[in-house]
Amino acid sequence: MNACNAVFLVGFMGAGKSSVGRALGQRLRWDFEDLDDRIVRREGRLIPGIFRESGEAAFRKAERAALRQVVEELRSGAAKVVALGGGAFAQKENAELLEAAGVPIVFLEASAEELWRRCQEQAAQSGMERPLLQDRNQFRRLYASRLGAYLRASVHIATGGRPVDEIAAEIATTLGLKELAIRTEQGEVE
Ligand code: S3P
Repeated sequence: MNACNAVFLVGFMGAGKSSVGRALGQRLRWDFEDLDDRIVRREGRLIPGIFRESGEAAFRKAERAALRQVVEELRSGAAKVVALGGGAFAQKENAELLEAAGVPIVFLEASAEELWRRCQEQAAQSGMERPLLQDRNQFRRLYASRLGAYLRASVHIATGGRPVDEIAAEIATTLGLKELAIRTEQGEVE
């Protein structure tokens, strides 16, 4: 696999993995994928439904299988930005899989307070349901228990109070990622 043809975004709930990932994909003209969307497609159920009906262990199993599939597909060389769910990189086996694949792993950092605020805002604005989002204290504890895992990422990017495009630009510059050239119908490269 060409390690420079993929980027994985990790971090806690509310870190901005999906919005930054989408912006980075657009900037580079790379595909963007949210791993949670693949889990939903593979399982034929929404994430809250998987947690409710089958429990967290079943969700983690589905998450691991989906991640293995993504990594396998990257061997074709297609350029892709992948946003992982908040717990994915905290699972040792998943971290080992990505590290062995040699792909850049970017940790989107923010304080627990800021992450909590963003998650509350998203829930109020779009009704986004997060099964592991309960009360503020549980949120802080879960964040603290995962921080060590996130810090294993190869690159750490601060996100507090920054626009999504600026964060995406910093990732591209830090990793030296190149925009894909688009060939027009006339064969010109844009
Ligand atoms: C989870 C975070 C969610 C989703 C699932 C579990 C977690 O993704 O994968 O609800 O364990 O933190 P987001 O980080 O995109 O909310």
